[in-house]
Amino acid sequence: MTKTILIGNKKIERTAALAPMAGVADRAYRLMCKEYGAAYVVSEMVSAKGICYSDRKTAELCTVTGAERPMAIQLFGSEPEFMAKAVDIVLRYEPDIIDINMGCPVPKVVNTGAGSALMKDVDLAAQITEAAVKAAGAVPVTVKIRSGWSKDSLNAPLMSKAVENAGAAAVAVHGRTRDQFYSGEADLEVIKSVKETVNIPVIGNGDVKDLASCLKMYEHTGCDLVMIGRGSYGNPFVFAEIAAHFKGEDYSPPDVDEKMRVMLRHIRMILEISEKSEELAMHEARKHAAWYMNGYYGSAKFRGRCYQLSSYAEAEALAEEFAELQHSRGL
Ligand SMILES: Cc1cc2nc3c(=O)[nH]c(=O)nc-3n(C[C@H](O)[C@H](O)[C@H](O)COP(=O)(O)O)c2cc1C
Repeated sequence: MTKTILIGNKKIERTAALAPMAGVADRAYRLMCKEYGAAYVVSEMVSAKGICYSDRKTAELCTVTGAERPMAIQLFGSEPEFMAKAVDIVLRYEPDIIDINMGCPVPKVVNTGAGSALMKDVDLAAQITEAAVKAAGAVPVTVKIRSGWSKDSLNAPLMSKAVENAGAAAVAVHGRTRDQFYSGEADLEVIKSVKETVNIPVIGNGDVKDLASCLKMYEHTGCDLVMIGRGSYGNPFVFAEIAAHFKGEDYSPPDVDEKMRVMLRHIRMILEISEKSEELAMHEARKHAAWYMNGYYGSAKFRGRCYQLSSYAEAEALAEEFAELQHSRGL
């Protein structure tokens, strides 16, 4: 049986969770990852201030459907009062967890003092956490951070202790600094230091893409849970591989036919959920289609063709042609 951990009062399987990814991990994506065994999923980041001022997009970003649970709604912001108000608003969507983004490196967010800018202001980070915790009541609040702002300020342990003291129920650590954005390798040592510093669960994140890298994250850092972002691109199967390991079950990776079936189902989900026309919704689906083709013979050319897709029928035809090419190569 899989072990579980507690994030506040929420029981979470100790396998691997899906990381928040704006523009990628939308509801269709989360549902796919959940179906394949993600321990929990996180919404795309939502602006705390934005929610307070307008309802536009709030429902789209914050709706939690039954099949996605347990699910966290992630907020970003730099003002404790807006954070508290935003928490109050998103509670209507009954999230299992509320997560605060203190790791986003993009200038648009950092320049408002939110995201990873908070790594430079530990006191404010603690105040924001405290305000969110107070507003969230029984719903656990987690905080997602980076290893630090730059290599000269690897303050993730200090930051984690501060948010723990402010009432956070867990801390997720992406082992890169803000300065690194997504370059270089994730630093597992910092995650290990965080684990040695706090008593709340620590969620290790960065560069996990398969069972081997997941086990490395668990073993090297001692973390309580692993979180996967980019390693799940076109690959919800990564969660099945990891879950099977922890359940002591056999796992066989999908063949190309299965991958194409899942890709098409993912596209159908995007089309069903989207309120846009098929053509516009296919724009959202294109990158996902391309990701499912990664790592195969001729995939670069096919990925290029994915970016031209404008209907489901075209995606079906492309998937068939792609699978046939692989079959002709003996796959
Ligand atoms: C396209 C993209 C969007 C992201 N959006 C968010 C976000 O909304 N909130 C957040 O906390 N992190 C976000 N991240 C960071 C990821 O959650 C994760 O910390 C990072 O990608 C490292 O993990 P990985 O190596 O498993 O991808 C995003 C990353 C990517 C690649």
